[in-house]
Amino acid sequence: MNIAIAIDGPAGAGKSTIAKLAAKELSFIYVDTGALYRAIGLCAYRNSIGSKDVPAILKMLETIKVELAFNENHEQVVLLNGEDVSALIRTPEISMYASDVSAIPQVRAFLLDLQRNMAKTNNVIMDGRDIGTVVLPDAKIKIFLTASSQVRAKRRYDELIEKGMDVNFDDVLKDVETRDYNDSHRATAPLKPADDSVIVDTSDLNLEQSVEKLISIMKERM
Ligand code: DC
Repeated sequence: MNIAIAIDGPAGAGKSTIAKLAAKELSFIYVDTGALYRAIGLCAYRNSIGSKDVPAILKMLETIKVELAFNENHEQVVLLNGEDVSALIRTPEISMYASDVSAIPQVRAFLLDLQRNMAKTNNVIMDGRDIGTVVLPDAKIKIFLTASSQVRAKRRYDELIEKGMDVNFDDVLKDVETRDYNDSHRATAPLKPADDSVIVDTSDLNLEQSVEKLISIMKERM
């Protein structure tokens, strides 16, 4: 029986960085489900389909294939119609597109089996918004990772600057707050802590402290 650990939380809480390190420590596979929504967002964007144009997005879904693979370093790669789009999905435009398309119930249904199958065949740490509530309701450990919007925006801003992107802090903060609102107010699978999750606020923790805290929660409950 494989073990699943669900990590949910708002944009920029550090889920992916922390989950990646924790997965390495535990020899689990790390699955970043946001990348799947981002790939669908990218596809809509490339085809000049509005992120809220539901009929056009549903039509597009009929023609696309989204897959997850792992490279030789065990890092996740997301494939859109066979093309590795892992790097292309990390822009602010695609973040917002992903948030919008993720509110469409059929988009969520389209990605559900893919996510569940990953957990059937591997020990996983899976991060997203609805992993503990919808995708893997029976996950052995559920963590809801959060931090204040200011702290999350600062982390995201530093990350984008480091990648050489030309962004300003107020725009990043606005994006974080808009996505928080969208992700937690949509009708289907909104972002919220599962009743049986452990809530971890990393506002006052650095990366090492956050990883340490998560790993200690995981080891304690495994
Ligand atoms: O984790 P992320 O920031 O890469 O996710 C991008 C968007 O995808 C996010 O704003 C909401 C959506 N998402 C979702 O609805 N459910 C998930 N399990 C993961 C992401």
